Amino acid sequence: MADNSKGIAIVGGRVIDPSQDIDRLATVLIKDGVMEEVTAKPLAKAPDSYDVIDVAGQVVTPGFIDVHTHLRDPGEEHKETIETGTMAAARGGFTTICAMPNTVPCQDNANVIEAVLKRASEVGLVRVLPIGAITVGRHGEQLADMAELAAAGVIGFSDDGDPVADPNLMRQALSYASGLGLPIMNHPQEPALTRGAQMNEGPIANRLGLTGWPNEAESSMVARDVELAALTGGRLHECHISARQSIDAIRRAKERGLNVTAEATPHHLTLTDTWVLGEHGDDNGVVRSGAYDTSTKVNPPLRTQDDVDALIEALADGTIDLIATDHAPHAITDKLCTYQEAANGIANLETAFASVLSLHHRDAVSLPVLIERMTAAPARFLGMDIGTMKKGSTADITIFNPDLDWTVDPSEMATLGKHTPLAGTQMKGRVTTTIFGGKVIWDIAAVAPIG
Ligand code: DOR
Ligand code: ZN
Repeated sequence: MADNSKGIAIVGGRVIDPSQDIDRLATVLIKDGVMEEVTAKPLAKAPDSYDVIDVAGQVVTPGFIDVHTHLRDPGEEHKETIETGTMAAARGGFTTICAMPNTVPCQDNANVIEAVLKRASEVGLVRVLPIGAITVGRHGEQLADMAELAAAGVIGFSDDGDPVADPNLMRQALSYASGLGLPIMNHPQEPALTRGAQMNEGPIANRLGLTGWPNEAESSMVARDVELAALTGGRLHECHISARQSIDAIRRAKERGLNVTAEATPHHLTLTDTWVLGEHGDDNGVVRSGAYDTSTKVNPPLRTQDDVDALIEALADGTIDLIATDHAPHAITDKLCTYQEAANGIANLETAFASVLSLHHRDAVSLPVLIERMTAAPARFLGMDIGTMKKGSTADITIFNPDLDWTVDPSEMATLGKHTPLAGTQMKGRVTTTIFGGKVIWDIAAVAPIG
């Protein structure tokens, strides 16, 4: 591992920094934890005061930013802790993650926010930015003290896991949050349309005898939220968009010039409801022994290929602003049960990048655009000077080998959540080194696997 008292020279790599329109072979120089230079000068000019990391054949980018992570700490440390979650983030190439408030107690007051920030800084692995709850206890009845939460340092508000179902409360939330200059990050799910719902509504749900969850449960709330954003002038962010109809609503909102952004997850961009049939999405019309795999159960559910195609197109054209993981670790017992009983969620910080890189490998989204959606775009959403390699900015860097073949083995993941539909799947491309504030926090060659 690099000696961090020295600078670091990353040589021989393809540097992609969408914030500066950089995409070329270059040397990256880091000194005292900040970006010194991205230069075309050859390696020989790097002075002795730099540790040299040779990354020929690899890609060097700003550290990835995830605006939607569940860390479960405080309160559900058997599912994840700030330590294991940030370790998983580092391995996945993320140097900044935003912690969703559905903790126990929930992040609806300054004390809990301060505790999360304190613990994250003690662990010190990556930047953890907390998200405050919209409503007290996330019960959807009364607004939390949003000004108190803003003063404590939240980057936005969300009741994620649940929507803000009451339109009047949503209207008030958008108004108050806009006064604080912060976004409302809603989880769009119309409760009346998803009672008892287990998976995407359609022929596969019928075949498996599971209750369907229609696209319109999402898109109807997205449409409502867009109108309330127009009414209030508030900043609206829609979490984990999964349905073609929602994308249409967001596209129209942007055309109206509204302050609306949206995210998509790696699983909704790459997997379909055929995965619930087992055999990794190989749908030949037969229900196999691998069917009802609870690791495919997620909220919102995996949708159809038509929805996936719409999401990819929207990611490429910017209607979907950014990729966010919705990393949602659960205990083994939350998934070792029937499909109906299982918790929603996929643990994916360590597979997220390889998943979305598959879009580049099959020429669906270019590499610079993909990197933009994981660096510059979330940085813009946060209004922070991160996700860039500009001179003087904090040296958060991710290095990946786009062609490295590897197989997903949950027992080797740092997250305590071992549930992923990708277990045993061959992936192409992997993060090899992550640098946070000039310090190497993940080096695939030097760090022994955990677990
Ligand atoms: O699948 C999900 N899991 N979706 C959510 O919205 C919440 C999350 C969780 O907290 O487990
Ligand atoms: Zn959610």
